[in-house]
Amino acid sequence: MPISSSVLDLIGETPIVRAQHLDTGPCELYFKLESANPGGSIKDRIGLSMIESAERAGRIKPGDTLVEGTAGNTGIGLALVAQQKGYKLILVVPDKMSREKIFNLKAMGAEVVLTRSDVAKGHPQYYQDLAERIAQETPGAYFINQFGNPDNPAAHEHGTGPEILRQMAEVGGLDAIVFGCGSSGTMTGLSRCFAQHSPRTELVLADPVGSILTQYINEGVLSTKSGTWLVEGIGEDFLPPISDFSRVKKAYAISDAESFAAGRELLRKEGILGGSSSGTLLAAALKYCREQGEKKRVLVFVCDTGNKYLSKMYNDYWMLDNGFIQRQQHGDLRDLILRPYSQRDTVVVAPSDALTVAYQRMKLYDVSQLPVMEGDAIVGIIDESDVLLHVYGDETRFRDPVSTAMVSKLEKLDVKSAVESLLPLFDKGHVAIVMDGAKFLGLITRIDLLNYLRRRVQ
Ligand SMILES: Cc1ncc(COP(=O)(O)O)c(C=O)c1O
Repeated sequence: MPISSSVLDLIGETPIVRAQHLDTGPCELYFKLESANPGGSIKDRIGLSMIESAERAGRIKPGDTLVEGTAGNTGIGLALVAQQKGYKLILVVPDKMSREKIFNLKAMGAEVVLTRSDVAKGHPQYYQDLAERIAQETPGAYFINQFGNPDNPAAHEHGTGPEILRQMAEVGGLDAIVFGCGSSGTMTGLSRCFAQHSPRTELVLADPVGSILTQYINEGVLSTKSGTWLVEGIGEDFLPPISDFSRVKKAYAISDAESFAAGRELLRKEGILGGSSSGTLLAAALKYCREQGEKKRVLVFVCDTGNKYLSKMYNDYWMLDNGFIQRQQHGDLRDLILRPYSQRDTVVVAPSDALTVAYQRMKLYDVSQLPVMEGDAIVGIIDESDVLLHVYGDETRFRDPVSTAMVSKLEKLDVKSAVESLLPLFDKGHVAIVMDGAKFLGLITRIDLLNYLRRRVQ
């Protein structure tokens, strides 16, 4: 491979790999790894095309401020290009987006404005509306507007589309392509490219349950009522101005649970770490493949990397909390313990460990207290304030053993106690230490109870 002179030259020309282990029925399934772009997603392509076209048209010049509303990946693509070319960038991001994307954006130098993710278009806090307003109110700022910007689909019509057709020609062509729709740039651009250069290629949409698109494509009905979903980057509550769905003949609605399960299967079976939408797209692609009566060559996008979702769909605790993984239910307090001790999931310390160990573990696992275990017996509990009160005024006391700062007079709760018995403990600021006779089962905190109650209404 040639050596590139700029990271921007590495955008596009992403690899394709064929599925080896998934059950694809009579079809061959190929993955287009957009995760291999330098910013980790398909959106690097439009970050480059929208900024360079605006430059060519004389609408912006380095030093100007760019503003966009984005679920994250467009922001990263724009941040990459803005940073390399010397633009300031303000991004409005809905608050359901993963922390990894937001950290990534800030580390690249973008200013991030978080907004609500539970409001629809027309609401002043809706991320695109808020971005447009910020652009209007910031002197000299330019609103990128990926949902209405023709240079978004153009990146795919003239870049992604021809690239795919060239690559797939090596294996005999492309019968169907499975994609998702966020701004609809990918779909609209590919549709235009294929209409001209590969009209027989079927366009198949993968859509989250709750989005309005599946019904629009399969039944021709455009609903004004959308639901909510956790998969990031795809799904619509309105038709973007740049969208052209005329050549999309089939859509599959995929639930969050199916999407996350398919994404995890992609990693387990094919070794591909894709994002949450890659799960949605794969689930739809597999349905499509298995429905076919003859061999077809099907391409599906891996639109971004799963590195951005390690704390969510690849985190078993997050999956459990959100009800996407089920544990055996016991009908008692065990059902509320997120990290059971018997499964070695509880983060613990020993009484002889130094307080620095307790402090590091609390930080690493993002917990505020730890049970102190002597063998399998619980002998104490230590929380952040115990450590703080012990070391305050003499930081060398971080080296003292946990036993010197822990609380050892423990109020324990039998596993068969009613859920209501948690409340007085929480009221006193304690966590519940759940016991089955002399056996320690785990801790229950306020957030565990909240998660449990929320799961019950899902
Ligand atoms: C994470 C992610 N972002 C964006 C897109 C495509 O978005 P757009 O319709 O904006 O081109 C996809 C498509 O699958 C996606 O998975």
